[in-house]
Amino acid sequence: MAEQDWREWEGRVLGDLRTDVPHPARMYDYYLGGKDNFPADREAAEAVIRAYPASRITALANRAFLGRAVRHVVGELGVRQFLDVGTGIPTQSNTNEVAHEVAPDARVLYVDNDPIVLSHARALLAHADEGQRTQVMLGDLRDPEAIAAEARKLLDFDQPVALMLVAILHFLRDEEEPGDIVRKLLAPLPPGSALILTHATMDYASQEAVTAGKDVYSRATAPFVPRGRSEVESFFDGMELVEPGLVQAPRWRPDGALPEGSDVISLYGGVGVKR
Ligand SMILES: C[S@@+](CC[C@H](N)C(=O)[O-])C[C@H]1O[C@@H](n2cnc3c(N)ncnc32)[C@H](O)[C@@H]1O
Repeated sequence: MAEQDWREWEGRVLGDLRTDVPHPARMYDYYLGGKDNFPADREAAEAVIRAYPASRITALANRAFLGRAVRHVVGELGVRQFLDVGTGIPTQSNTNEVAHEVAPDARVLYVDNDPIVLSHARALLAHADEGQRTQVMLGDLRDPEAIAAEARKLLDFDQPVALMLVAILHFLRDEEEPGDIVRKLLAPLPPGSALILTHATMDYASQEAVTAGKDVYSRATAPFVPRGRSEVESFFDGMELVEPGLVQAPRWRPDGALPEGSDVISLYGGVGVKR
């Protein structure tokens, strides 16, 4: 899409901002203790917390995984470019901040389909005087070709790129073919590229919690689709999993004691490398 068309599309979407319907980005912000949420988001998030009391520690474990995985990919794998799809409302230790601690020249492209994420991320990046190293765009994971086309403008696809799909794929229905979407995003990336992924699962939660979670998100802007271990692992098809493989997110290369309650954190995390 041409630059001007993107701007017009973004303007229309920003104008359509709905605060009366729960949004996953704002519900997640609430789990993390943020302030960028509205009553509809808080009510929905509270309903999820009642059904799955580990919601907050799961969100925190997800963020902690993101930081460890980005640090690993920059520090150990030498990747300098990040395509972070499903960015979320900026909070602490965002991808660009973690990457730039290790490699100040790292480039980050944030993509999210929630206009509120876009406006907050733009404001934050303007303050941080990020220059050209970090960019934000409105885009939908269900349109991987459009994301890849825009990503090529900021990122060099001849050099390794880390594709980040952290706590987003469980907002896609099976019929939206998430596996196909991941393949399309990874296909143009060269060897040495990485996939950083977390995904909600039913494997460590009660059936009641899963049913209640699905029910709440069915009234939000995106459904909740937890998946089993083998389904989540299949997103890494053709890649080499970094040790310790796909595990509960807090158990992926922990940098200290596991958070209390880790046994019920119903979230897988892993990092794959394209060879
Ligand atoms: C739970 S948050 C995760 C944020 C961040 N990745 C993290 O792990 O801290 C999920 C994010 O994915 C975004 N999202 C959900 N469905 C999306 C889609 N189809 N395309 C792009 N973004 C999407 C939401 O707006 C939200 O910001």
